[in-house]
Amino acid sequence: MLDLSHHIVNRAEVGNRNAPPLIRVENLSLFYGEKQALRDVNFDLFENEILAFIGPSGCGKSTALKCLNRMHDNTRGVRIEGRITMRGQDIYGSDIDPPLHRRKFGWVAQKPNPFPASIYENVAYGARIHGLMPNRKALDEHVETCLKRAHLWDEVKAVWKTRQGTQLSGGQQQRLCVARALATQPSVLLMDEPTGSIDPIATAKLEELMLDLRGDHSIVVITHSMSEAARLADRVAYFHLGRLLEIDSTEMVFTNARTKEAREFVEGRVG
Ligand SMILES: Nc1ncnc2c1ncn2[C@@H]1O[C@H](COP(=O)(O)OP(=O)(O)O)[C@@H](O)[C@H]1O
Ligand SMILES: [Mg+2]
Repeated sequence: MLDLSHHIVNRAEVGNRNAPPLIRVENLSLFYGEKQALRDVNFDLFENEILAFIGPSGCGKSTALKCLNRMHDNTRGVRIEGRITMRGQDIYGSDIDPPLHRRKFGWVAQKPNPFPASIYENVAYGARIHGLMPNRKALDEHVETCLKRAHLWDEVKAVWKTRQGTQLSGGQQQRLCVARALATQPSVLLMDEPTGSIDPIATAKLEELMLDLRGDHSIVVITHSMSEAARLADRVAYFHLGRLLEIDSTEMVFTNARTKEAREFVEGRVG
């Protein structure tokens, strides 16, 4: 068995698990037509924590992530059961405005996907369509702040209004996508294998960035790298065939998992 304990930082001081959760997921099931993709999933997401979703391919990790920001709303044939509350409010309740709800979440995908527009426009877009900034000067400052928070500013400040986002390196593009996600001032970042298509140095930069962002956000990250989960996550949720089999501190899941499935996965897939 590979030992990941040297990766695992003591994070007892992180987050506040005595406070009520930011998001609570209760008895969540999801069907794509006849096919059930999630089975009675339960978990909490706390403020200022990084929660990693791990598990074999096709076990429902992305599906669960998309429930949080109601990304399934426009997918035909999807049926959802159970309850998700955010700050105590039912996110599928009739009093919720879905676009306003989605704005509380930033999404970062596996493949960097900047718009074919300038670096500046990539970030300004979200703030502009939501009318978040009163004037051009405020918008410029906001874009600069987002680029700084995404650890990208120093690399692009000379060209941020002229160079296309798509002309950056893969790792820079991914940090640009983080900056773009931050532009709408979300509470939660949802990241679906964000380091899955970038090189190790770019990955290290993105991980450092994520640890920084935890100070102001909750992050749910899907990863296939056990060492990445060990480096980043405060808690780990193990998914298996649509069920969330186990959720616990990173230390517990990696050193003392309760279920045989999680234990074998963690031991067999160290990479
Ligand atoms: N839009 C969809 N329509 C039908 N089935 C889907 C759809 N998206 C995912 N699935 C199925 O749901 C299951 C869970 O998928 P997914 O959440 O993407 O898993 P993971 O992210 O853990 O790899 C898989 O069996 C997948 O084939
Ligand atoms: Mg997935």
